[in-house]
Amino acid sequence: MQYVAVDSPYGIVGQSPQIRQIRRQIEKLEGSLTPVLLLGESGTGKEVVARALHTSCGRGTLVPIDCGSLVGPLMESELFGHTRGSFTGATEGKKGLIELANGGTAFFDEIGDLPLELQVKLLRLLQEREYRAVGSLLRQKVDIRVIAATHRDLAREVDRGAFRQDLYYRLNVITIRMPALREHKDDIPLLVERFLAKSGGRYTMTPEAMDLIMKHDWPGNVRELHNAVDRLVAMAQTPLLLPDDLPSTVLRQGAEYPIHQAAAAIAGTRNSQQAGPKLILPLHEVEKRAIIDALEQTRGDRTVAAMMLGIGRTTLYRKLKEYQLPAVD
Ligand SMILES: Nc1ncnc2c1ncn2[C@@H]1O[C@H](COP(=O)(O)OP(=O)(O)OP(=O)(O)O)[C@@H](O)[C@H]1O
Ligand SMILES: [Mg+2]
Repeated sequence: MQYVAVDSPYGIVGQSPQIRQIRRQIEKLEGSLTPVLLLGESGTGKEVVARALHTSCGRGTLVPIDCGSLVGPLMESELFGHTRGSFTGATEGKKGLIELANGGTAFFDEIGDLPLELQVKLLRLLQEREYRAVGSLLRQKVDIRVIAATHRDLAREVDRGAFRQDLYYRLNVITIRMPALREHKDDIPLLVERFLAKSGGRYTMTPEAMDLIMKHDWPGNVRELHNAVDRLVAMAQTPLLLPDDLPSTVLRQGAEYPIHQAAAAIAGTRNSQQAGPKLILPLHEVEKRAIIDALEQTRGDRTVAAMMLGIGRTTLYRKLKEYQLPAVD
């Protein structure tokens, strides 16, 4: 798991109603071997959830199977293995991904891209719990937990004949829908905080940069946000992260999107979900942000900034040090 912390069970960061609901679903499935289908746009955290489901199941290893890469004459052997001499060039037998996942979890990533030919074989595997390696006459028993994910609308793929309906029903026992990041913008500050902590914890977002981040739609979801934060850190000259280094797409959207409109949009999403809990920042973060604001407004004049903050100059110095803020003069 990538992020293990007390405040983000299962490594899933977020306190929005949508993310809490997903954590509850994972909790309910603890120890279960029921197949799970994960739906959601790219970058929404489907793999994070797949890993959480696997960990909470508590058995074997997780074998990710990238269905999009299963193409060409060797695809069946990739999945099911082959025996020695089963085709030209097969000088040795080889285990397939299914065998590697035995006793654990097979994670079929981008299941919507699985070629029809393999869909039939996967269906048989799920129905009969056994399979045959390429070139083998023997059927092997297998015991795997199946988790599948796709960014596609799988029901539509079934309608247009690109995905087998019987396989769809087999996989779609429990569905977890990952929300797009624009649908749970409340979680952005927490996610940003987590990504900054990952990069060593020396950096702080300026309110201007945070403003633009909140206004952006994040079509690439959490992955795009993570990349943007990493980029800010890589470009940073000081521990204060400035909006200038945000990707141009984020800057442009901010320019076209007046502040009140963005605020209304965020408030709108909140209201439509029956008022999720209001975002609370840790006190030290509030204090740190107030200090940054004061220093920015006074262009680094610490005497005036201290007055604005209602604290003495010495206290301000101490806090600057404590928060590792740059001493601007
Ligand atoms: N709720 C979350 N908490 C912490 N990190 C997250 C969360 N959601 C996504 N991430 C991070 O965002 C990135 C993308 O997540 P992930 O790979 O799980 O998405 P995905 O839905 O599988 O995307 P794709 O469809 O593109 O494969 C990863 O770096 C992941 O760690
Ligand atoms: Mg993925």
